[in-house]
Amino acid sequence: MAKHLLIVAHIPSENTRRLRDAVVRGAGSPDIAGIEMRALTPFEAGPQDVQWADALILGTTENLGYMSGAMKDFFDRIYYPCLEKTEGKPFAFYIRAGHDGTGTRRAIESITTGLRWRLARPPLVCRGAFDERFVGECEELGAAMAASLEAGMI
Ligand SMILES: Cc1cc2nc3c(=O)[nH]c(=O)nc-3n(C[C@H](O)[C@H](O)[C@H](O)COP(=O)(O)O)c2cc1C
Repeated sequence: MAKHLLIVAHIPSENTRRLRDAVVRGAGSPDIAGIEMRALTPFEAGPQDVQWADALILGTTENLGYMSGAMKDFFDRIYYPCLEKTEGKPFAFYIRAGHDGTGTRRAIESITTGLRWRLARPPLVCRGAFDERFVGECEELGAAMAASLEAGMI
């Protein structure tokens, strides 16, 4: 049976859209079979999507030292409906930050610790002026999560 991968990414700019697309491209790589993917914005995603998922990749910008308001709203809406149902869920996340990323990383780690999700990959922080390297890193993140999920390693 296909494993389910949910990507929830905030994409307020051309660059952040490119990063999300790279994650989707990596996860959908032809070498990886048996993965069903859903890519949504935080505005679109809800508790049912999270419960559907066998693993998640989250992507957010850093805004005013924290995750985007959209991503925070997503967590606010899914927290209690998912709390007892998604324990141990493997996830990864990436942050697009103009100059820092620390506050966002800490915030995501804190909320997902509350949910008892399991971080499956080191956080990816795409920091500073936009660099084409970020696109490759996001593609690798998507591919690594999908391959690990397919292999039953996460
Ligand atoms: C209102 C606002 C607040 C921001 N605050 C931060 C911040 O606290 N730390 C940071 O590293 N970047 C900050 N940024 C930069 C954004 O993270 C960055 O512009 C966004 O990720 C989009 O990336 P892009 O410019 O490559 O499209 C902020 C941007 C906006 C619009």
